[in-house]
Amino acid sequence: MAGPDPSSVLSLLKGQAVEEKNLLYSKEMIDRRVKALAGSISRDFEGREVVLIGVLNGAFIFLADLVRYLKIPHTIDFVRLASYGSGSVSSGSITVTKDVERNIRGKDVVIVEDIIDTGVSIAFLQERLEKRCPSSIKVCALIDKKQRRERVVKADYVGFALDEGFIVGYGLDFDERFRHLPEIYVIKEGDCDYTV
Ligand code: IMP
Ligand code: MG
Repeated sequence: MAGPDPSSVLSLLKGQAVEEKNLLYSKEMIDRRVKALAGSISRDFEGREVVLIGVLNGAFIFLADLVRYLKIPHTIDFVRLASYGSGSVSSGSITVTKDVERNIRGKDVVIVEDIIDTGVSIAFLQERLEKRCPSSIKVCALIDKKQRRERVVKADYVGFALDEGFIVGYGLDFDERFRHLPEIYVIKEGDCDYTV
């Protein structure tokens, strides 16, 4: 069944936080980068099998698209971290609300994250997974937002580098909203008062 027409979704939101003029990455741009990332991962791990660990909730759409372009055997698992409360300001402390279930000992792991901001979440997750003795851990982030970085973390595969701004769509949320948008938009904080 066809999903909602994205243009009608956008018109629903028009005049609210998300407007066409705030479009940052179109569907086509995202698709090109996701395909390229899958190509790099497929080349780097040729002849091997990887465990992809998607960080919920934000990475669910990115991971779903990424795996369909992968050309290597892989398995998928998820972890859910709670770091942001309501709104766009990090609470600073991370809790695991759903843990990785697969045994990753001796495996090549690729963490799939929607966006790296302060780096606190990914540093926390990397340290936690290291203790389970994988053969390697790489990080694949759709967006690397460097300006507010607090921890030294390096993403091995990056879709887009962004200086600043709070963005939504393609899995990224503001207070759990806007994840469904096929494109990525910059939103103005304090401008998110629509209800559906
Ligand atoms: P970090 O721990 O500060 O790197 O935060 C990473 C998490 O914060 C991401 O997985 C996102 O869920 C969320 N986040 C950071 N920046 C944005 C943004 O611009 N839009 C939506 N979510 C964001
Ligand atoms: Mg989030």
